[in-house]
Amino acid sequence: MHFHRDRGFVHPVPSEITPRAAYAGRRDWLRQVALAAAGTTLGSWAARDALAAAPPVGAPLPGARSTVAGAVTMEKPTSRQDATTYNNFYEFGTDKADPAANAHTLKTRPWTVAIEGEVKKPQTLDLDALMKLAPMEERIYRLRCVEGWSMVIPWVGWSLSNLIKAVEPTGNAKFVQFLTLADRAQMPGLRSSVLEWPYVEALRLDEAMHPLSMLAFGMYGEVLPRQNGAPLRLVVPWKYGFKSGKSIVRIRFLAQQPRTSWELAASSEYGFYSNVNPQVDHPRWSQATERRIGEDGLFARKRPTLMFNGYEPQVGQLYAGMDLKKFF
Ligand code: MTE
Repeated sequence: MHFHRDRGFVHPVPSEITPRAAYAGRRDWLRQVALAAAGTTLGSWAARDALAAAPPVGAPLPGARSTVAGAVTMEKPTSRQDATTYNNFYEFGTDKADPAANAHTLKTRPWTVAIEGEVKKPQTLDLDALMKLAPMEERIYRLRCVEGWSMVIPWVGWSLSNLIKAVEPTGNAKFVQFLTLADRAQMPGLRSSVLEWPYVEALRLDEAMHPLSMLAFGMYGEVLPRQNGAPLRLVVPWKYGFKSGKSIVRIRFLAQQPRTSWELAASSEYGFYSNVNPQVDHPRWSQATERRIGEDGLFARKRPTLMFNGYEPQVGQLYAGMDLKKFF
């Protein structure tokens, strides 16, 4: 168990967070941006090509503040340090510190995402093309893990509905399945049989179309770190975090509800819906409260968990009339 002691640290608002100088690739990219902005001769074709390519991990990735209802919580964001060192990404190990320690082997460029199944326009999209599909937005979402901890994270990306509309689902499409990368050469955790690989998650089509469902390419104003699911991941803020698959390579539109990795692992513990619900306990622990990462310590109190993680006004109608204890 890891404890996070950052009490007294004043968090800047995410748009003011200065990107870390981290990788040589990022510095090159920044130089190209500067050249292009200065309109120098070198800034013509070479820089334009560099700009056309998806920026590397750690590069700045700004987004305009989202106008989607409920997309920006005023709660204090979790520190970047905590959000990038306390992770679940079993492909890189099951301890919270494993993904940050091991994910450097993940190759995030080039990257493609295959769109298949019940769509009129099946296609394989290159990451560069995908990132340009819609303007980048910054959204500050609560993240509630099924394990009982939570964070507040400023993501950068756009509504998944942009992609869904572009590929035109057929009338048969009722579910959307997300398959994430499973490559033994890059992911040491695949040697373990803790889950069936690849990690597979899915949503009902109307859930996927909800404007709060997001494809994220960045966080804290920068391209996603590998341990957080580079180069793209899902973020569904009203569901437990495991519904938000990391490092997605394939999106399938289906007529039937598919089984997900966590359902296959323990169907009595992890249901298909997995909406955050303080009234439906996990068979082995209560879901009524949560521990906010960064607030640990002697005097930290557990917070009450909110229905649909606080997004009930936005998403409650998706489940009207459903027995949420049965469809957990
Ligand atoms: N995606 C993949 N591919 N593999 C995983 O193990 N863990 C999930 C989810 N997505 C996971 C995954 C869980 S349990 C949570 S809580 C979130 O990622 C954690 O996201 P974070 O580490 O960025 O906070």
